[in-house]
Amino acid sequence: MKILVLGGAGYIGSHTVSELIDAGDEVVIADNLETGHIEAVHSQAAFYQGDIRDRAFVDSVFEKEKIDGVIHFAANSLVGESMKNPLKYYDNNLYGTKVLLESMVAHGVDKIVFSSTAATYGEPESIPILESDRTEPTNPYGETKLSMEKMMKWTGVAHGLRYVALRYFNACGAHVNGHIGEAHNPETHLIPLILQVPNGQRKAISIYGDDYDTKDGTCVRDYIHVTDLAQAHILAMKYLMEGNESNVFNLGNGIGFTVKEVIETARKVTGHPIPAEITPRRGGDPAKLIASSDKAKKILGWNPQHADLEEIIRTAWNWHKNHPNGYAQ
Ligand code: UFG
Repeated sequence: MKILVLGGAGYIGSHTVSELIDAGDEVVIADNLETGHIEAVHSQAAFYQGDIRDRAFVDSVFEKEKIDGVIHFAANSLVGESMKNPLKYYDNNLYGTKVLLESMVAHGVDKIVFSSTAATYGEPESIPILESDRTEPTNPYGETKLSMEKMMKWTGVAHGLRYVALRYFNACGAHVNGHIGEAHNPETHLIPLILQVPNGQRKAISIYGDDYDTKDGTCVRDYIHVTDLAQAHILAMKYLMEGNESNVFNLGNGIGFTVKEVIETARKVTGHPIPAEITPRRGGDPAKLIASSDKAKKILGWNPQHADLEEIIRTAWNWHKNHPNGYAQ
């Protein structure tokens, strides 16, 4: 199969490309390298640099390559940034997807797996979160991702396109080979920020609030290894290739860890005391997000292999200690 991976030079995209190639698929990557990294582009993949908002560019990829299915990661994904600059998210995430879907319809490509997010739910109505729960995003990032899901749904109704939306919880960790990993600039995610302390780049980690209604007062999240996420994309594409209907799946381990527990685990993995300081809450953080991934396990046959938080942080540490500046030298 020849799979087009949009955003294949990014964090989750590059790990998915690696799994696809290991599984024997042909991979074509398109990425504008705005947040992706040329160093993360797999040597066995064809690479086109360009933007999904550029219809001529997207058309040219479909014309040059005979694509069987699309995996779509090309989007902006920072909650805080989306609050400050919502229109950037409407432009890249929504308009970009509109252009992509138009081009797919025009070229008869009718299968797409798409990275969605737990942010589509907003403040959860119950824990663990089910796919059938209320979706009421509390920020433009989640809102645009939910709208992207709807855009695919209605494109499917009109043109027969089928999609799988994968709602990730907290993506983390790095490839066990140590060659690819998480590299955001600026970094906002908890685990890479914690690891900046033993790396000598930060004096202490800030805990954003310890007065939440959780067991130790800090926020609870469901941390899921990036390679397990990558595997879910392969299973979702197989599901579509087998002729199944469009669907939405949560991806998480179903286990919640507090911020303090994550810091404590990082201390154990790195052997560094990692000082922590309590700072005010970050606006818009829900107290607790834990997925029910039973649906993905049952329907896709998904079976996460790296559920242990210590192992997740060990893979992240293996990447960050050898790449303290990400892909930059
Ligand atoms: N946190 C800290 N200190 C830090 C950074 C984070 O205490 O320096 C806390 C946050 O308050 C949060 C937890 O650590 O409680 C995890 O924060 P991240 O920024 O790593 O991740 P989020 O849970 O905020 O974000 C994730 C995904 C988003 C998605 C969101 C849904 O990364 O894509 O869940 O709410 F939108």
